[in-house]
Amino acid sequence: MLSNSLVELDRRHLIHPVASWRGHEAAGVRVLTSGQGATVRDASGKELIDGFAGLWCVNAGYGQESVVEAAMKQMRELPYATGYFGLGSEPAIRLAARLADHAPGDLNHIYFTLGGSDAVDSTVRFVRYFWHARGLPQKDQFVTLEYGYHGSSTAGAGLTAIPAFHAGFGVPYDWQHKIPSPYPYRNPVGENPADIIAQSKAQLLAKVEELGGPERVAAFYAEPIQGSGGVIVPPKGWMKAMRDLCAELDILFVVDEVITAFGRTGPLFACSEDDIVPDMITTAKGLTSAYVPMGAVFMSEKVYQTIADGAGKAAVGHGYTYSAHPVSAAVGLAVLDLYEGGLLENGRRMGERLQAGLHSLKDHPLVGDVRGRGMLAAIELTTDKAKKTPLPAASVPSTRIFDRAWDAGLVIRAFAWGVIGYAPPLCCTEAEIDAIIERTRNVLDLTLEDPDVRVALR
Ligand SMILES: Cc1ncc(COP(=O)(O)O)c(C=O)c1O
Repeated sequence: MLSNSLVELDRRHLIHPVASWRGHEAAGVRVLTSGQGATVRDASGKELIDGFAGLWCVNAGYGQESVVEAAMKQMRELPYATGYFGLGSEPAIRLAARLADHAPGDLNHIYFTLGGSDAVDSTVRFVRYFWHARGLPQKDQFVTLEYGYHGSSTAGAGLTAIPAFHAGFGVPYDWQHKIPSPYPYRNPVGENPADIIAQSKAQLLAKVEELGGPERVAAFYAEPIQGSGGVIVPPKGWMKAMRDLCAELDILFVVDEVITAFGRTGPLFACSEDDIVPDMITTAKGLTSAYVPMGAVFMSEKVYQTIADGAGKAAVGHGYTYSAHPVSAAVGLAVLDLYEGGLLENGRRMGERLQAGLHSLKDHPLVGDVRGRGMLAAIELTTDKAKKTPLPAASVPSTRIFDRAWDAGLVIRAFAWGVIGYAPPLCCTEAEIDAIIERTRNVLDLTLEDPDVRVALR
């Protein structure tokens, strides 16, 4: 009854992100009502393992009392303090200091946002301000990767390379450019890391030349693992090669860690595994484990000092009412305590188990590729392993596989071309990881029986 009336109210009033509005009206909402650990429950009482941690964000899992307590305490004491007018709050200052302490290299300065999109958007403004401060305002062209996702703000949507974010929205702008993704499984040069790295470097160099040389190019953006593009893992050494090339060309290197930071791939920052120090990092999601919204831009000494000197006594005109929100910061501190108190370690162990479990599915007739790092993974389905033929589009793999997994008690992300994404909470138990694998195998077996898939397999 409750659920039915909610479905109707939702249909009439709530606009859902990145949905077919008509499709959603027809399908109706699935209402989630509670969560504990790695498990969520829906309005019918059905329990599911959340193999996607909400939207790759509830890294600490549901029902963490210390986080709830931290938020309540802060709300009672001081629910809001602006960062404008030289004001501040203790949790925001402490969180910034603790994050700077953990961040790679000299990324010592933190600008807090409300999420990932406005973190990326902030970097676009900071990058431009940086080059103005350096007296090089003509360095105003931005380069990102195909299959990249950098949020849904007006500027970020054009850095994003997913067609649905462009069509009808008038982006990308003429200063936003793409080069091919390293995508090892589908790279025309094959899967050899050295070949992929050489190719990506050549592609960036060619793009820079096409844009008028390094004196026109402001920044290059990359995710350590391309999440929303289908969990695409560049070969080891790729990030470092691209970082070094950008340094050589005097192009800022911005690493978008909105998904990968805070234990998703193992450590607090995925780029520390790549052995690089970027000019800026964007984060969100795991920063607060999504208990409340918050994102953060990490800024290097070079970028910070250049902007500060460039502005001198003038204000750097960038700010949000809710930047450095004290409740979000208090939650961030409590979540960091959890990460450092054993959660990262558990995530590392469970990540190994998840990767091994997914690799055990490689013998399934539909599994073409298994990839990932830590608690971030994907399998790519194909009807012909040699030719790497994607599932037939007419079989609508995204909804069919998502629905099937749901029925099996598992939340996953199903991408349109037959990629299944995994990002379970770091608190998962061994039994939960095993259940994710077992339920996935059941979903694959059912999909193998679909008449259209059987025809395509022949
Ligand atoms: C790499 C990356 N950047 C930016 C964003 C945007 O973050 P948000 O949805 O919090 O605005 C996302 C979201 O998934 C992301 O994966």
